[in-house]
Amino acid sequence: MLPFFKNKENSKTEITLADVKLPEHIGFIMDGNGRWAKKRNLPRSAGHSAGAKTFRKIVKYCDRIGIKYVTVYAFSTENWKRPEEEVNSLMKLFKSYLEEAISDFKDEDIVVRFIGDTTAFSKELQDLIEENEKESADRKGMVLNIAMNYGSRDEIVRAMKIIARQVKDGTINPDEISEEMISQNLYTAGQPDPDLVIRPSGEYRISNFLLWQSAYTEYIIMDEVLWPDFTEKMVDECIIEYAKRNRRFGGV
Ligand code: FPP
Repeated sequence: MLPFFKNKENSKTEITLADVKLPEHIGFIMDGNGRWAKKRNLPRSAGHSAGAKTFRKIVKYCDRIGIKYVTVYAFSTENWKRPEEEVNSLMKLFKSYLEEAISDFKDEDIVVRFIGDTTAFSKELQDLIEENEKESADRKGMVLNIAMNYGSRDEIVRAMKIIARQVKDGTINPDEISEEMISQNLYTAGQPDPDLVIRPSGEYRISNFLLWQSAYTEYIIMDEVLWPDFTEKMVDECIIEYAKRNRRFGGV
């Protein structure tokens, strides 16, 4: 990435995080694990293991610098289409990470939440998900949303069904349906929309991630880095790049 400078005269004063307004909510599409492994002649599962280490490092870093919400895309509703061997290795990885996460994020006081249809996972994994949410619910720090079996279209359909049932039983009138009501029936209810989504590995796609919530999100696609190689310094660079953007939310 290019260096960022403080003023038009191109003075050599480099901008740091202390100079900018931080995004409140950052999303990460943790892409490129497979390519990272391929480049090293390793199985794809090795790429996911390396990606999981990066996940832990980056989440802790975001908390440290004062980000309030982080959402990571760990497994999409479409990822079941991958070869059985890869899906199994991902499930094993989730299990071992979620076992550790209960205590691992304790020192940072991180609240761990899951978004997505987690009923599709094994009972063992569902128990771990529940345990993580319960154990961390009263913490006061950053909120970490782990998107697992998450698909934004699926999430919107789910919200529509909840609202349709309320219309059917007469609790609400169709004219009362609002953007706010839809937001409040998504998995992310009560949370701010992401200000910034970062996608390494050069794919220019949203991939069914937080579609409703990212109506005005700033996207940063990084061409040259694969998720396992993503660093804390890159988080800083993305935030500084984000801070330079002129967010108008449809206004002027
Ligand atoms: C996409 O890269 C990555 C995934 C589908 C899995 C992401 C999961 C992790 C990083 C593990 C995180 C662990 C927890 C507990 C949240 P890809 O496989 O599509 O890469 P490619 O495009 O290079 O093939």
